[in-house]
Amino acid sequence: EILIGEKTYKHLDGSVAIVSAGKMMVKGKNQPIQVYRLKSSPEPREGEEMAMEAISAHKGPMVGRKKEKEALERIVKSVLSGKFCPVIIEGEAGVGKSRLTANFVELAGESEINGYAGACQSYGRSIPFLPLKPVFESIFGVKGKRYNAGALEAISGYAKLNGWESLLNDILELGIPETAETMALNSRVRRQRLFDLLYSALKYRAKIGPFYIILEDIHWIDETSHEFLNHLMEEEPIEGLLVLAVTRPEEAIKKSSIYSKAEVFKLESLPPEESAELIASMLDFKEIPEALKSLVIERSQGNPFYAGEIVRTLMDEGYFSKDENSGLMSFSGNLEDIELPDNINSLVLSRIDRLPEAVKDVIKTASVIGRSFSLELLKQIFPYPIENGPLLDHLEKLASLDLTPIDRRGADPSYVFKHIMTQEVAYNCQAFREREMLHEKIGTLIEAKYTENLHPHLEILAHHFSRSANKQKAFLYLAEAGDKAVSIFANTEAIRFFDAAEKIYSKPGRLPKYVTKEMIYHILRTRGNVHLRIGLYDKAVDDFSMLSEKVSRWGEMNRVPVVLNRMAEALWLKGEYEQALKAADRGLRIAEKVDNPEGRATSLFSFAEIARRKGDFRTAVGRFKAAIGIYREMGNDAALAMSLNSLGITLGATGELEQALAIYDEALEARQCLSDLEGEAKILNNMGLIYMDTGRIKEALENFKKSAAAFERIGDRRNRSYCLGNIGYIHKNSANYSEAELAFWEALKVLERIGDTAGTAYTYSNLGDLYLQMNQIPRALENHGQALEIARSLGDEELIAELLAGLAFDNLAIGEIEKARELAQKAYETGNRIGAKIYIIKALNALVEIDMVAGSQQVCNFISKLEELASDNNSEYGSAASLIIGRHYKACNNLAQAEKHFNRALGCAIKGGFKRVEWESRFMLGKLMTAREDNEFLRLGLNELECAAKLLQETVQNINAPERLTAFLELPYVKGILEYRPAQPC
Ligand SMILES: Nc1ncnc2c1ncn2[C@@H]1O[C@H](COP(=O)(O)OP(=O)(O)OP(=O)(O)O)[C@@H](O)[C@H]1O
Ligand SMILES: [Mg+2]
Repeated sequence: EILIGEKTYKHLDGSVAIVSAGKMMVKGKNQPIQVYRLKSSPEPREGEEMAMEAISAHKGPMVGRKKEKEALERIVKSVLSGKFCPVIIEGEAGVGKSRLTANFVELAGESEINGYAGACQSYGRSIPFLPLKPVFESIFGVKGKRYNAGALEAISGYAKLNGWESLLNDILELGIPETAETMALNSRVRRQRLFDLLYSALKYRAKIGPFYIILEDIHWIDETSHEFLNHLMEEEPIEGLLVLAVTRPEEAIKKSSIYSKAEVFKLESLPPEESAELIASMLDFKEIPEALKSLVIERSQGNPFYAGEIVRTLMDEGYFSKDENSGLMSFSGNLEDIELPDNINSLVLSRIDRLPEAVKDVIKTASVIGRSFSLELLKQIFPYPIENGPLLDHLEKLASLDLTPIDRRGADPSYVFKHIMTQEVAYNCQAFREREMLHEKIGTLIEAKYTENLHPHLEILAHHFSRSANKQKAFLYLAEAGDKAVSIFANTEAIRFFDAAEKIYSKPGRLPKYVTKEMIYHILRTRGNVHLRIGLYDKAVDDFSMLSEKVSRWGEMNRVPVVLNRMAEALWLKGEYEQALKAADRGLRIAEKVDNPEGRATSLFSFAEIARRKGDFRTAVGRFKAAIGIYREMGNDAALAMSLNSLGITLGATGELEQALAIYDEALEARQCLSDLEGEAKILNNMGLIYMDTGRIKEALENFKKSAAAFERIGDRRNRSYCLGNIGYIHKNSANYSEAELAFWEALKVLERIGDTAGTAYTYSNLGDLYLQMNQIPRALENHGQALEIARSLGDEELIAELLAGLAFDNLAIGEIEKARELAQKAYETGNRIGAKIYIIKALNALVEIDMVAGSQQVCNFISKLEELASDNNSEYGSAASLIIGRHYKACNNLAQAEKHFNRALGCAIKGGFKRVEWESRFMLGKLMTAREDNEFLRLGLNELECAAKLLQETVQNINAPERLTAFLELPYVKGILEYRPAQPC
């Protein structure tokens, strides 16, 4: 074991791992002193590298923060025991967040936990994945690599890639070749899949052992990384992963799901006694004069950065002298004479100002590069020629003043601004022109260095050139970085880039030469599309209207119609149909004048979409067909597929189901040609719904299954869950109870996790219905109850009506007649209030059943209403209604009416695949027929009875769990069917 003391510790540069070993007595000292232990840190895997520049700059003892340290120790234990631990350290600038984080790294190291870190930058909001890129590069072991088989193999070890490997380009920029399938993915789906891959990589990493991810300064996080963090929070927790995010107080972060899920530490200023300790730790005083202490504490208000800067200022100004013999310091001077700037920025500025000119040049130049900078780059951009020797001396000086400590030694050492405020002040205190020149130099060097592949560096090039005088390059790189962001669905980031590019050319005066019309067209159109895509319709309208004006002015009439129709789309999505129609109309007139088929087709498509939204389906169908004709002629497959899909939906709404199916078939083919998995999945689902409506249960089930598989492939879990819900619903109706249960639970798990409350409520409701049919009443009550609670919070009246009726049935099943009646009444009232026929039927079903059990007189009233409503309703509830009405007539001895209704129930049930109603109506019909004194009817009746019992037996045999079976067999109608013994014919 190697122990070292305080001084050695302070001078080590972070190249060795050191942990505190407490205080101990050593020879020659009469007090215990702080010692540290050299430690072999856990070996990182090959290629795995920590990226913690800003954190590793924090050395020296940490004062106070006892509570936080203990909490972090507890969290380290917790992650060691296999928990998922999201943590946030929040506090004002300079309060000690990074210091505490450095302490955490030490702590984790003591427990042999390894990790990764990434930092956000003040200019980094528009750079997608900025803090996550180094994290995943390290995890995958591909830092600085280009695509090759080895790199790919390293990655494959980490995530089930299944042919999606090239999606990783969006973050790692490895240049993995795209496949037909990945190229066909739209960027939203692509993003979704990528997030899944990254998540599974983390999950895999956690299997190797617990680990942490540190994200510094997420108050500057880009939207893409932020969304990934939220994704991580909403997914199944990754056991053994600790995410430590550091932030200044920031509204956007407070609202995000990481903030609500994480344990948040709010770092406050240091209390006076700890500030005093901090001051003492910086000075080798025997005793620090009280007045000096108070001055620092009062001025710094407990902010450690402020306090440290004050002490260093006094040091710089020569207020402390050192005794050669004892090595101790003392204060020399008059406290009253001390004049300190009254804010931290001025204080830092005064420190910089006091530096020798050449050193000042170094820190200023470095600040233009960034938070961390290398010797080589610094030398290359230095305003005047400088040799390594003096430059290194100046850097040594800056490090000794704790302004820019060394971060990495080696042939090309790098340094880091210990505190961002120092960098900011150094940056701001130089002349604008000088900074511009430096930025241009840096940009030009980056350009030259990566000339073969600039793609990974577009954002940083945009950053430097847009702060330089070279507006031409700024414009170019801003536009390119914007395009790159669009391609990976980094929409907010893209808008920032395009906005900045627009600023360059929209200054008054003549357009600079390098800004071509083509570029303006591209930028406005792309930004408009992005605005449309993320629902910022007003902004989209602005973009497209500006663009249509411009292209008209340029005389490029061919382009006007398409632009106007994009504007129409934004308008109809906003619900402004009249304005939308106007735009589409103008588009059509111009398209006809200049004979532009695409313009004509898009205008017709707009007319159709607007008509559809206004409920004018006939017009919609006509216009869609016209647009489809043109697209087909043009061979525009993507537009064709989209129009076919819209036509299918419209035909579905008008009840022309067979036609709709034929159109969907064609749309499906078009989507398959385009390898458009998402489009395919949606069409399959839509077709499934029509099959279900038209009683083709097998086909419906098949389509839903295919659709669910396609959604699974592209990682769209929400839509997959909806498909699973449909699958469960069919299984429930077909009395495949275990399969229904599985499907519903799987859907529920995902919907709850992704926070889809409406979907969650519907699934609970379905589960309640399922359990009611299985005679699992407590479960039915529980699920229906849960669904009702959510439905109420959402104000979803239809669902409320349905659930009240469901709960009425649950209560009836356990003999709570009055409660059941009350609920059914409420369901009936709600259904009537919102005019939802199907739920009125369900409520009446319940009311009739309740009254039949209770022998109430009111029943006839309800029956006539029910007869009126249900006679043409073929839904699940309509068929059940016929069965109930039949039972009522049978009880009144009106056998002809009874038979009529049982027959209707049976017809409906067979068509809709409602097994329960089928068994029971066959049974009732069988009983009626066998009771007739007629051999032919007796034969038919026996047939029905046998059929009912046989069908029911199939279900019984499929119920595996014994207690489920017992409960099911206790259902009165089940017992009735299975135990009924008809009189045998003689
Ligand atoms: N508890 C402490 N003990 C000793 N030094 C501390 C302590 N807290 C902070 N410091 C020192 O104060 C300075 C500022 O702290 P730090 O960089 O951690 O602030 P921060 O909260 O991360 O600020 P920012 O939001 O600007 O990044 C650093 O030099 C740090 O080492
Ligand atoms: Mg910090």
